[in-house]
Amino acid sequence: MQVASYLPDKNLALELVRVTEAAAISAARVQGRGDKEVVDQAAVDAMRQVLSRISLDGVVVIGEGEKDEAPMLYNGEVVGNGQLPQVDVAVDPVDGTRLTAEGRGGALAVIALAERGSMYAPGSLVYMDKLAVGEAAVGTVDINAPVEYNLRAVAKALGKQVSDVTAVVLDRPRNEPYINEIRAAGGRISLIGDGDIQGSITAALDDTGIDILLGIGGSPEAVTSACAMAAMRGEIQCKLWPRDDSEREYAAEHGLDLDQVLTTRDLVDSDDTFFAATGVTTGSLLKGVRFGGVHTTTHSVIMRSRSGTIRFIEADHRVEWVEGEIKV
Ligand code: FBP
Repeated sequence: MQVASYLPDKNLALELVRVTEAAAISAARVQGRGDKEVVDQAAVDAMRQVLSRISLDGVVVIGEGEKDEAPMLYNGEVVGNGQLPQVDVAVDPVDGTRLTAEGRGGALAVIALAERGSMYAPGSLVYMDKLAVGEAAVGTVDINAPVEYNLRAVAKALGKQVSDVTAVVLDRPRNEPYINEIRAAGGRISLIGDGDIQGSITAALDDTGIDILLGIGGSPEAVTSACAMAAMRGEIQCKLWPRDDSEREYAAEHGLDLDQVLTTRDLVDSDDTFFAATGVTTGSLLKGVRFGGVHTTTHSVIMRSRSGTIRFIEADHRVEWVEGEIKV
């Protein structure tokens, strides 16, 4: 898809990282208080504040909307300073609000962009069945195939034994069939409490110890992950996962095909996606925010699909807090 008003000649991810850094710092500041809402609010406020200064005309397609019913960064909200380019925006101010609230590792502040009209809008269906792999295994896996088939495909692509293939899975009762099948096939499991954007990215990058993401997680996180997958040349396959009959009816009424396999391209129909994530708490992808006496240190990853560039950025910030606002 190419829209006339969408011709960025610069890597927007280099600016977006300021947004995720601010969100991560604000969220990390309230880490461990046991309150998810406080974490989310801190990150949303910081993200909005910095986002309003970035040169873009954005519409939030994947926002705080459906699952959490948040009042800000909601689906349809206009963000940026109003100048071109026109883009769709996916935000997850903290993927892992509970992790942060409980002081556990693996939470990220995340944002992704692509040209206007390119992102899949899952509506009220908040869950998807997901499979994600890195470049080596692209084209060899199939979300409709048995787990053992996919583990064998990944093992072959990576030149290792199935017993050395590690699948990252969200620890939820609904994912128990996956866990049982991985065990039966002889694969390894890395169970995560939350945060399957990190899960899909670690499945696609080398040297993370993760080879494949399997299981049912959030639909917004699937679209956001797809923006990173496109840059990493990995692959995510998803299927909408209705929780009950009312969601099945919703799908039928809205013409959503529950059997359709949504590919990376279906989730974000773009040759130029931008992705930025900053660690809130330390996980398998990024270090969390570290508060020093003067400096606050953040660790981020930014990606652009057109070039396939992936940059890890460690930044020292002199953070000033002015009347509750963050100046990074
Ligand atoms: P939030 O921190 O934004 O709530 O999301 C965390 C998360 O674990 C996602 O990574 C995942 O896709 C989704 O929640 C799973 O949903 P649920 O917690 O309802 O099973």
